[in-house]
Amino acid sequence: MWYETKVTRTLNIKYPIIQAGMAGGVTTPELVASVSNSGSLGNIGAGYMSAEQLKVNIEKVKQLTDKPFGVNLFIPESPEISEKEINKANEWLQPFREELNLSEVSEVKKANALIFEAQIKVIIEEEVPVCSFTFGLPSKEIVERLKKKNIVIIGTATTVKEAVANEEIGMDMVVVQGSEAGGHRGTFMGSFEDAMIGTMAFVPQTVDHVNIPVIAAGGIMDGRGVLSAMILGAEAVQMGTAFVTSLESGAKEQHKEAVLRSFEDQTVVTSTFSGKPARGIRNKFITKMESHEKEVPKYPIQNTLTQSIRKEAAKQNRPEWMSLWCGQNPRSSKQQSVSEMMSEILSEIDSIVIGKIKEW
Ligand SMILES: Cc1cc2nc3c(=O)[nH]c(=O)nc-3n(C[C@H](O)[C@H](O)[C@H](O)COP(=O)(O)O)c2cc1C
Repeated sequence: MWYETKVTRTLNIKYPIIQAGMAGGVTTPELVASVSNSGSLGNIGAGYMSAEQLKVNIEKVKQLTDKPFGVNLFIPESPEISEKEINKANEWLQPFREELNLSEVSEVKKANALIFEAQIKVIIEEEVPVCSFTFGLPSKEIVERLKKKNIVIIGTATTVKEAVANEEIGMDMVVVQGSEAGGHRGTFMGSFEDAMIGTMAFVPQTVDHVNIPVIAAGGIMDGRGVLSAMILGAEAVQMGTAFVTSLESGAKEQHKEAVLRSFEDQTVVTSTFSGKPARGIRNKFITKMESHEKEVPKYPIQNTLTQSIRKEAAKQNRPEWMSLWCGQNPRSSKQQSVSEMMSEILSEIDSIVIGKIKEW
């Protein structure tokens, strides 16, 4: 069958479809479990979670499914940022805070390697079957600890060179994130601009240069997308935006509505929200901050500086100041349950495959 691949066999799932771990509240236990129950792989987006929050989420998912699921983590980054740079960024952000009546400036929080280590410990203790990473590579030591427990590990790459590095450190499979992808760029070698490779060009080149299975991501929203990625040599796909608007998703209503209403020419890659390039729907915040694009403090500093603005904007129903992460294929988004989405994808693939066989 078209859906049996090295990825489905290794992950012990039926369909080669992976719901992206999406940090920031999108991946409710209900979403993760519904995806896994439908025969695909659900993932907890744990990038911003403490070890305790992660444990609670894992336990909730386990109550809702006995199928495999994964946890997605961010490799911690600690850029050196001066007080002066932080003050400058706070000055740029002050007008947004005033509009929202926010009196306090957010506290600067640095990425903490200890939190990452604690997240890994929880994943091992809870015997989570799959662990994926973005923003870089974990240490060899962490790779070995996870593998010793038979946890399948998946890395993220935005160039062939990064995919090879993932293979060399011992990843079992690699997500190749095309430039269409919504959310943060996973680039960790060289500039992100050079690593903006469309999925159609990126997948076959990676398949030709690594031996581990390739998972295609970026702009895939339906059966056509799944099948095309597999024809290019991918052994599974990872979808993010398509799940943002699902009924089980925990995305804010304003975010869901913005994705459902957007077109292919309305997303932009911006560092203004977090200090790391990410694709989202253009809004007033991005446009007003655009002139500081290259100067905002690097991730995760800018992310912590804008945190209260994003949160308060959601509370006050001001989507123009929220980060509305979204890939380049929002016209294909639908508001439907995971089970409806999955059965549509599968019947679309069946009819394409059967139709083609008849034509031939
Ligand atoms: C709202 C949102 C949040 C995301 N958060 C994460 C994340 O926490 N970790 C990660 O590895 N990828 C994250 N991504 C990127 C996805 O892994 C994937 O590359 C992307 O969704 C694929 O493109 P698509 O959105 O067009 O399906 C996110 C994507 C979106 C849309």
